[in-house]
Amino acid sequence: MEVIIRPTADAAADLVARIIAKELRGNPNLVLGLATGRTMESVYARLVRLHREEQLDFSLCRTFNLDEYVGLPAGDRYSYRHYMNQHLFMQVNIDLRNTHLPDGMADNLDFECARYEEQISRCGGIDLQLLGIGRAGHLGFNEPLSALRSRTRVKALAPLTRAQNAPYFDSPDQMPLRAITMGVGTILDARRCLLMATDTEKADIVAKAVEGPITAMISATALQLHARCNVVVDELAASDLLGSDYYRWIFENEPEWDAFR
Ligand code: PGA
Repeated sequence: MEVIIRPTADAAADLVARIIAKELRGNPNLVLGLATGRTMESVYARLVRLHREEQLDFSLCRTFNLDEYVGLPAGDRYSYRHYMNQHLFMQVNIDLRNTHLPDGMADNLDFECARYEEQISRCGGIDLQLLGIGRAGHLGFNEPLSALRSRTRVKALAPLTRAQNAPYFDSPDQMPLRAITMGVGTILDARRCLLMATDTEKADIVAKAVEGPITAMISATALQLHARCNVVVDELAASDLLGSDYYRWIFENEPEWDAFR
């Protein structure tokens, strides 16, 4: 795992967008794993800008989102399909047929989860998985006690997740209680993982995810097992990290990051 600390949330989003853009330019057929949430909005805004101003090309790119609420149709304004269409897909030259989210309206949810895994495999697996982190440390909706080898399945949302996401809904009881999510094992199969977190509200959980013991109580700790994982944080989200001087030194000195400083 490599932790990169940027001075501000904007600088963190810039870096994440530039890492994605570099991967996409290197491989136009990239299979990109996507995340939703407030943190990602600024990343998608930058990708849209890179598409408009620097012709970043999404025409051959395939995408798989981490998760979708159970019971919300794609057209529902609170669905993650709607979020993705609004923040990214409708603003770049991606072929919507190449964009995938689990179907939270499927009659047979278990079948839908297996189908999603199969679709990912058929595309050759995920090249780059973008990740946020919840205040309870989830990746996707891998809530506390998610098995570290879990695959795509239905999860009941934890109270802290419900509290975190309820403000997005007109009234808290509109929020679904369950979601389909890629499993921790599904995420760890991605060839590269890129997690972004900003703001003081994430400082405690970022420190636990990066420097704490691996535990199914905090699915993000499983990223410590991944061979190629970058965690991009702003100063505020980095404030509880014990090794920040070392992480800064690596970013400032390692040739891999020359093009990004
Ligand atoms: P946020 O969500 O970006 O809205 O904080 C992240 C997450 O819950 O994974």
